[in-house]
Amino acid sequence: MNRINKDKLPRHIAIIMDGNGRWATKNGLRRIAGHRKGAEAVRKVIRKCREIGIEYLTLYAFSVENWSRPEGEIKALMSLLEEFLTSELREMLVNDIRLTTIGDIDALYEKVKKALYEAIEKTSVNDGMTLTLALSYGGRDEIVEAVRRILQDSKEGGIEEKEITKEIFADYLYTTGMPDPDLLIRTSGEYRLSNFLLWQSAYTELYFIDVLWPDFSEENFVDIIVDYQHRERRFGLTSDQLT
Ligand code: IPE
Ligand code: IPE
Ligand code: MG
Repeated sequence: MNRINKDKLPRHIAIIMDGNGRWATKNGLRRIAGHRKGAEAVRKVIRKCREIGIEYLTLYAFSVENWSRPEGEIKALMSLLEEFLTSELREMLVNDIRLTTIGDIDALYEKVKKALYEAIEKTSVNDGMTLTLALSYGGRDEIVEAVRRILQDSKEGGIEEKEITKEIFADYLYTTGMPDPDLLIRTSGEYRLSNFLLWQSAYTELYFIDVLWPDFSEENFVDIIVDYQHRERRFGLTSDQLT
């Protein structure tokens, strides 16, 4: 923890929490046991972020592509999600965490939506950290949806072609008002984005770690932040221009 430089913290960390299924298989368990264990890792990381002073944490919990998994697994994931939202509400209130969500929320199971909206509403005045759960989320879907809404606004006279800039476009995304992620972590040793935050991660620092999500530790997390702090983010400039 004290290895972290408080003056160079990433404002926004995003995580693709991958490897629950493989963790279960490796331990001779059913996939859902991996998801259950994964939820414990989620709690640990949220707590750690709060302790370090991270402003935004965005977690990829369920992708739009994940709807194509076997029905039994989807049902189990939805139950686990509902359970998580209910059990973590207190912790979020105590720790001044505001919950938000990105994705096609309408597609979620009713009971999940209910728990989600309740937690979002009850934590809405908190400002210690913003925790965003990406649920039924797809980056391409998000972009297409933004285009549709811009066209709709344009038809209704709310926006004109020449007004469409990168900044205005970003306002039509689910993540409106949030800074882009500074650091994006993917666990499980896969090297891909799997449709996560495609627009927002244009200049994000990426970190891929070969640890299955349920095994992801606070130490792994601190190591990654320290690594991030040693990188030079040039945004297209030369090193000399930065100093
Ligand atoms: C990530 O773990 C959790 C979700 C996608 C919901 P996986 O379930 O993808 O685990 P692996 O990749 O099969 O090991
Ligand atoms: C990405 O993991 C989605 C989440 C972590 C929620 P997947 O396991 O679904 O990704 P792919 O299919 O291996 O790319
Ligand atoms: Mg996976």
